[in-house]
Amino acid sequence: MSRQGLLRPVERPLKGKIPLYKTEEEREGLRQASRFNAQLMDFLRPHVKEGVTTDEIDRLAYQYTVDHGHTPACLNYCGYPKTVCTSVNEIVCHGIPNNRRLKAGDIVNVDLTTKVENWFGDQSETFLIEPVSVEARELVQATFDALWIGINAIRPNGRVNDIGRAIARHAKKHGLSVVQEYQGHGIGRAFHQEPGVPHYPCAAGRVHIKSGTCFTIEPMLNQGTWRTKIDQADGWTVRTADGKLSAQFEHTVLMTDDRLEVLTITDDGPQQGHQF
Ligand code: MF3
Ligand code: CO
Ligand code: CO
Repeated sequence: MSRQGLLRPVERPLKGKIPLYKTEEEREGLRQASRFNAQLMDFLRPHVKEGVTTDEIDRLAYQYTVDHGHTPACLNYCGYPKTVCTSVNEIVCHGIPNNRRLKAGDIVNVDLTTKVENWFGDQSETFLIEPVSVEARELVQATFDALWIGINAIRPNGRVNDIGRAIARHAKKHGLSVVQEYQGHGIGRAFHQEPGVPHYPCAAGRVHIKSGTCFTIEPMLNQGTWRTKIDQADGWTVRTADGKLSAQFEHTVLMTDDRLEVLTITDDGPQQGHQF
């Protein structure tokens, strides 16, 4: 598969089927994979600090994952070279860990995906390397809140557009833009599958969220333009077109008959309403 699989043009009407996970065995598989992914995030969180290189974070994530008998899902995915994505400052997503040390004033998104017994879990958080500017803190806070506002907008049998509409409204209120070329995605037995989950309302978001749908929400909010460019040197790193800051948060969620479950969170992670 080409990397384009990660960034399906969101305006293309959705074809293909949305896998529905109906059985308790399937749902337990999803929950376990996401729970492990969340535990990995809990393990990494204290290591994301000034002076650490993103390569060191990557190595810790790799070791923790294989030590627990699981599989780093990004490693070798469409040729991606590392276990995690680390997206610093103006990097929107898919930043490749390297030997640069995190320094005060940076914001860095750490995106983790693990395969556990053939099920995938996917989540990310943006960290502040204190002290950061007021503007950086506001961007990260607004993006964290945007994820939860998107989650809370989901209704049983509602539409994917409920999510994007809520997120886009929140971003606008804060004078921020929403990245359009990258979106959330169905997840389960595959890393990326239907439905696409745009973070703004559009034709692709008209599909309904039926019981058994498992997917990610992963809004990327920018200080300036929503437009992005891919680093030609590595073919992965996505940057804001204007070089201004970008932040992202991601959870994997599962729609059941009566409620939405947020799968990639433990009691130790930043809960809804968290203040940075
Ligand atoms: N974890 C990213 C997502 O949220 C995908 C990263 S794919 C990689 O969908 F190949 F860049 F690692
Ligand atoms: Co991710
Ligand atoms: Co994702």
